[in-house]
Amino acid sequence: MTTLTGKKIIVVGGSSGIGFGVAAAALESGAEVVIAGRSAEKLKAAEKRLGGAARSIVADMANEADVARLFDQAGAFDHLVATAGTPPPNYPIGEADMAFVRGFIDSKFTGAVMLAKHAVRTLNKGGSMIFTSGINKDRPPVPGGSVVAAVAGSFTYFARALALELAPTRVNIVSPGWVDTEMWDEIVGEAKTGYFDQMAARLPAGKVAKPADIAPAYLYLMQNEFMTGETIHIDGGQRLV
Ligand SMILES: NC(=O)c1ccc[n+]([C@@H]2O[C@H](COP(=O)([O-])OP(=O)(O)OC[C@H]3O[C@@H](n4cnc5c(N)ncnc54)[C@H](OP(=O)(O)O)[C@@H]3O)[C@@H](O)[C@H]2O)c1
Repeated sequence: MTTLTGKKIIVVGGSSGIGFGVAAAALESGAEVVIAGRSAEKLKAAEKRLGGAARSIVADMANEADVARLFDQAGAFDHLVATAGTPPPNYPIGEADMAFVRGFIDSKFTGAVMLAKHAVRTLNKGGSMIFTSGINKDRPPVPGGSVVAAVAGSFTYFARALALELAPTRVNIVSPGWVDTEMWDEIVGEAKTGYFDQMAARLPAGKVAKPADIAPAYLYLMQNEFMTGETIHIDGGQRLV
């Protein structure tokens, strides 16, 4: 395992949820952290919550000019972590809103391709890229889960191919189960507590994760030089039930 002390980590999606948890854990491990997201306001609030120790850059990963500028401004770096995402489409297939579907795919998947495309220019030797998929590929919501399942599932194969193409740069995926983040406030609002209580009772782990439960999977993938082309599932046993 390598140390993260002095390593520069870019967290796209670092202003909230899982990405914020990774940023906080990486800072604690001695890394230099750059967080990115679309909202300057959210980034500033996150910088404050991180004790002023991280730098932030406004960038929309669905916009290639933004992605190129992000890496120009961040400079040479060691690890890319992409957790950025928005609530997925949840329409039954016969009612799919195609503009929403295209927007989701453009941001989540095409955005990841653009991050990889531009990251290679400034990623230091010995570095890695980590993208985020999720439990929806294994336990898709019904109805309406087909698009998010396909997009999340595609990351495993994206990483396997990219790990070969970019070797010795390592490319991996973290696939979280349910995590208590701001995204759920947007999806279910006040119903969140009831949803989470029900889910916690079903999960072998007996609880819904906090971002701090998920962050160590990203740190492990950054630090273990023998991990590449892999998907780590960290879902409290949700795939078993
Ligand atoms: N929470 C869960 O239960 C769970 C489970 C499995 C998988 N996941 C996946 O994990 C990822 C992170 O989820 P989360 O719960 O941490 O969400 P979150 O709390 O809503 O955080 C999302 C982060 O991504 C940023 N972001 C969104 N769209 C972006 C874009 N186009 N370009 C740049 N940044 C963007 C947001 O900032 P701005 O809005 O300012 O851009 C924010 O910092 C998502 O892809 C989600 O599908 C989550």
